[in-house]
Amino acid sequence: MSRLQLFPTSATIQENQLTIAGHDLSALAKKYGTPLYLYDRATMDFAAHDYQAALKKYYPARASITYAGKAFLCKAIAQWTQSHGLWVDCTGEGEIAIAKAGGVPRERILVHGVNKSTADLNSALENASVIVVDNLAELERISQAESRGAVSLWLRILPGVAVDTHHAHTQTGQHDSKFGMTREETREALAFCKARGLSISGIHFHQGSNFRDPAPLKQAIEVGLDMANEIGLAGEWHFSPGGGWGVAYHEDELPQPDTNEYARVIAKHVISGCKTRGLPLPHLHLEPGRSLVARAGVAIYKVGAIKQRKNKTWALTDGGMTDNPRHAMYGAKYSALAVSNPMGEKTARVSIAGPYCESGDVIIEDLPMPKLKQDDLIAIPASGAYHLSMSSNYNGARKPAVVWLEEGSARLIIRRETLEDLLRRDL
Ligand code: LLP
Repeated sequence: MSRLQLFPTSATIQENQLTIAGHDLSALAKKYGTPLYLYDRATMDFAAHDYQAALKKYYPARASITYAGKAFLCKAIAQWTQSHGLWVDCTGEGEIAIAKAGGVPRERILVHGVNKSTADLNSALENASVIVVDNLAELERISQAESRGAVSLWLRILPGVAVDTHHAHTQTGQHDSKFGMTREETREALAFCKARGLSISGIHFHQGSNFRDPAPLKQAIEVGLDMANEIGLAGEWHFSPGGGWGVAYHEDELPQPDTNEYARVIAKHVISGCKTRGLPLPHLHLEPGRSLVARAGVAIYKVGAIKQRKNKTWALTDGGMTDNPRHAMYGAKYSALAVSNPMGEKTARVSIAGPYCESGDVIIEDLPMPKLKQDDLIAIPASGAYHLSMSSNYNGARKPAVVWLEEGSARLIIRRETLEDLLRRDL
């Protein structure tokens, strides 16, 4: 059944019940309440191994995987990154604090951000090994810092080429993007570095997020290598063509994008581009977020009411846009299975909407499903990236609990927010 392939690798259907890592999802929902987020460790391990094996296969020099923490970062996930030796991309001092609390050592913390504050930069200087500089103003702030510790500086360039991501809001590499530096701005930054004795040891770009055609990477890699050549990067230098490799959210998008192919295309263009320019092969960094954690995550919602409208059946659930704003923000197309009777005949077309005071509080539109009724549980696959990290307290929503699943163990890694949490900052 293809919809099951959107779920974690350990998902199975046993006695007409959806299970993950052998766990009974109804029992978990009962114990921890709903909406509930589950993360399957085996799926994350599988994704990390996939990337590492592909780099080993196609790239003969040093290579690393950097987990983009913005996809979802908490202590347990930070700890997990270290079980695979991953670097962690932190946006600003908030994510740096979480990574540190999860035991990520300084040498594996890399800091991104499009307008890093002085506090972000100070935290990066203190706790990270790399700052990816987005603009000249940031460089000026860095140059004024009392101590630069052991931090290396890389430049984020704007390649002027985006990738196809299904939505303009997830593209970053195009000419008019707010991210990174144009060729002229990069030259200005280099002149500044020269004047202040700052050295640059890497080049980074990121073209967008959730793409499955690697073709536009080629042109951006050329731009990046041209810049590396111009700077005269040599010896141990770093090259990061960002992240953004996609995942399947809906059965229409299966099979899952092939990580091997993504890594192969990047390695091929980096190797040939360096050869043409007489550059030594760089330490290559791939920076996935979504493709490491999205498939591992499953959201469990409970149906509270069914409403029949002309041409539409609404299943109103207890989760919605406050834990998953992606349909509202990008029109993302999701799928779902009923936790009980997931193989039931799909006799209905169901739209799934949350409990919030917004007509846009919709997660799924017109999905073929078995008929749902009050108190049914539904499981939404590919919920591990950019849900909880973009969640909100709209309408006083309390953020869901998160449970970490392995065969034989289920561990609460984030407790559900409480009413006290909602009031904690009020004076
Ligand atoms: N590197 C940089 C510099 C990034 O800005 C991003 C994502 C990544 C890596 C990782 O991209 P990933 O592999 O996770 O696609 N909220 C949007 C996605 C925003 C992505 C922002 N940057 C969504 O829900 O689709």
